[in-house]
Amino acid sequence: MIRPRRIGVLHGPNLNTLGRREPEIYGHGTLDELDVAVAAAAAELGAEIVSFQSNLEGELVDWIQAETDRVAGWVVNAAGFSHTSVAVRDALVASDRPFVEVHLSNVFARESFRHTSVLADAAIGTVCGFGIDSYVLGLRGLLARLEEG
Ligand code: DQA
Repeated sequence: MIRPRRIGVLHGPNLNTLGRREPEIYGHGTLDELDVAVAAAAAELGAEIVSFQSNLEGELVDWIQAETDRVAGWVVNAAGFSHTSVAVRDALVASDRPFVEVHLSNVFARESFRHTSVLADAAIGTVCGFGIDSYVLGLRGLLARLEEG
């Protein structure tokens, strides 16, 4: 049997409160439900995911470093850190694994400080505005890129 590709899914600060947090923007689904949906999509695509959420920048960096040797790439919703964290960016770049930046909401239709990402130019692509499907579409694009070799 061919081993499924392992993809790291990273969730940044405040995403642990999905379902309760501004549901008009982020929807009613919880983070656990999101992970289940992404894992199901991954299985259909011959991949598996390992996911991690933290509100702490350093914990996200530690997790990227710890998982690097075990994953083929990353799907990253760094949440508020997308707009600020050179440390998360540096950890992703240092991993030498491709990553897709995703956001549940359409960050470009929101406040101007969300229009800038310190991750975007290092990502292979960005998907935003489709809720959970942002993750699924991002995963699909990442796997296609990995297939290209
Ligand atoms: C978010 C968008 C960010 O601007 C925000 O800080 C988040 C969530 C999204 O998924 O839409 O926490 O990354």
